[in-house]
Amino acid sequence: MTPPADPDGGRPVVVVTRCLPAVVEDAVAARFDGRFNTLDDPFEPAVLEDAMRRADALLCTVTDHLGARVLDVRDRRVRIVANFGVGVNNIDLAAARAAGVTVTNTPDVLTDDTADLAVALLLAVARRMGEGERLVRADAWSGWTPTQLLGTRVTGRVLGIVGYGRIGRAVARRAHFGFGMRILYHSRRPHPATPGDPPAEYRERLDDLLAECDAVTLHCPATPETRHLIDERSLARMRPTAFLVNTARGDVVDEAALVTALREGRIAGAGLDVYEREPRLADGLRELANVVLLPHLGSATTETRTAMGLRALANLEAFFAGREPPDRVA
Ligand code: DGY
Repeated sequence: MTPPADPDGGRPVVVVTRCLPAVVEDAVAARFDGRFNTLDDPFEPAVLEDAMRRADALLCTVTDHLGARVLDVRDRRVRIVANFGVGVNNIDLAAARAAGVTVTNTPDVLTDDTADLAVALLLAVARRMGEGERLVRADAWSGWTPTQLLGTRVTGRVLGIVGYGRIGRAVARRAHFGFGMRILYHSRRPHPATPGDPPAEYRERLDDLLAECDAVTLHCPATPETRHLIDERSLARMRPTAFLVNTARGDVVDEAALVTALREGRIAGAGLDVYEREPRLADGLRELANVVLLPHLGSATTETRTAMGLRALANLEAFFAGREPPDRVA
């Protein structure tokens, strides 16, 4: 790889599209000519295009949509896009390759926190925590009763994990060793167990997994192949007593079909952290009692968001030092 040209002869210009933890912004400013979005508003396509023309690198997030038009904009100066996130469905990787733009992501550092949140959502929906919290906050709780807000036991049940990468396996460890759950998983191919993994049974067919589980949690990337993987047909394969958890990407679930399934009691509930058209929700979702809805918090701890920023920075540093960025995806 050739070291990038620096047209101004100074430090490479890095546009950071959203506000990042202060320690990350300080580290970017210490090494690069950092341009920061102090308003923290999502960049419109025209603003992104402009950034592609005036910067050497873009440090962007899930809220930036980098399609072919942005990546191949005329007079583009950006040569590397460091995505602050492990999921890169916001970036057209084929278009980036065609345009010769390097793309990196931030794997590993968010695995534990995202897995924690998936388990939290499963517990929250199965134990009706959202309903309970709303009751208390509305000052409508008249005191303990033996039959109030009875939920479903999680301990000892069967958990289906769709996508068995780092986060899927981290969920499996928590669910099996913490809650005695039996683990089934579905992915493109079986994964050899790595040290520390719980026993897990592979299901080649998603339908088989869906039919056998008390809860299903999604951890696959958003790709054209996984778009609406969970749709009306696959929801119909799930048990009426089962719960669905999504901390992956909204696109993996046909949200309108999910609303119908939840409304008609075809599954018992859902815990969602991600949505098809964030920050918008599908019609009817907000009104359902049997869902727990979070605002894309999977990696939202100070520790992880800082680590993600520093990881993105490490990729930029490698690139501008003429080395292969460690987390290159295109
Ligand atoms: C990720 O890393 O993919 C998080 O969802 C934030 O984009």
